[in-house]
Amino acid sequence: MPRQSSTPPLRRIVAMSVGEPGVTADAAAIAALAERLRAGLLARGVTGCLSLRGHCIGQVLEGPPRAVRNAFARLKRDWRHRDLVVLEDRAVMAREFTDWGVRPPSI
Ligand SMILES: Cc1cc2nc3c(=O)[nH]c(=O)nc-3n(C[C@H](O)[C@H](O)[C@H](O)COP(=O)(O)O)c2cc1C
Repeated sequence: MPRQSSTPPLRRIVAMSVGEPGVTADAAAIAALAERLRAGLLARGVTGCLSLRGHCIGQVLEGPPRAVRNAFARLKRDWRHRDLVVLEDRAVMAREFTDWGVRPPSI
């Protein structure tokens, strides 16, 4: 059977969480964390962003469904943030982001 060309090849998850104050207040630590995460995510084809306003964190992950699911599962079990709320979780045809990094809180 021919491959259905209309099947969205990517998954996007948009979520928000609340950071542990000692973690999110430390801008240098967040920058270092992001630097470590970035290479691993991009190597798995995952793009998106991490956005901080005070202790409020916004996350976007998009890419191959399995890679996004795994990245999100790791994020969910991280004690450094809590009260994770998923705002969007769906299949998409195209990316909104071309890479992954810390962004201004504009989402
Ligand atoms: C404040 C904060 C925000 C984070 N945001 C993201 C994020 O947007 N995307 C992501 O993949 N991981 C994010 N992480 C990292 C994950 O929670 C987790 O540490 C990472 O996926 C590594 O998981 P592992 O230690 O189980 O390998 C964040 C961590 C912290 C502390």
